[in-house]
Amino acid sequence: METRIAVLASGAGSNFKALVTGDTGSGKVDILLTDNENAGALKLAAELGVESKYLYPGKYRTRFGVREEELWAEYLLGRGVQLVCLAGLMRIIKGPLLDAFKGRMMNIHPSLLPAFPGLDAQGQAFEYGVKIAGCTVHYVDGGTDTGPIILQESVPVFESDQRDSLAARILMKEHEIYSKAVKAHLEGRAVYSRIVR
Ligand code: GAR
Repeated sequence: METRIAVLASGAGSNFKALVTGDTGSGKVDILLTDNENAGALKLAAELGVESKYLYPGKYRTRFGVREEELWAEYLLGRGVQLVCLAGLMRIIKGPLLDAFKGRMMNIHPSLLPAFPGLDAQGQAFEYGVKIAGCTVHYVDGGTDTGPIILQESVPVFESDQRDSLAARILMKEHEIYSKAVKAHLEGRAVYSRIVR
């Protein structure tokens, strides 16, 4: 049986596309939701034939209003969504929307968490001078890029790298691991880590 997946994105949507075209096992990306009317992901959704919708996120910049989280949750539950994948959603989810999908909401982040959470993780890693960078898919727990890790992959940092060349290498790796993490979750192989919060 198919598992209905919703992808929530604010930006270009390349990870959304990777989830639509990748092997997620029984998963099927049914809907793209965005908090940004100008998100490139909306155009990609039209090209890929995936239903998409902009929903008002509320008056705050980095999180949703509580009422808006309720409305987003109602929308997703009403459509029978079983798994929510954040793919470049630049807002924290920590209220009714998270409650509705606890353990069924995951996020991708362009660093080897717990290193470099937050904005411009690739730039943070580059400036720090790490020799190995990477990306992480994890369950969402209401923090900023925190929560039990499902999958991580590393990429090398070369002498010749700039922030953008490193970010591009990480992004390619992100596209590989997100669908793998979803598949692992759906097959019961994404075991919660030992982190106790
Ligand atoms: C990706 O690099 C994703 O990991 C990052 O935003 C980018 C979205 O790109 N997310 C975060 O930084 C979350 N903290 P995309 O729109 O092309 O998928």
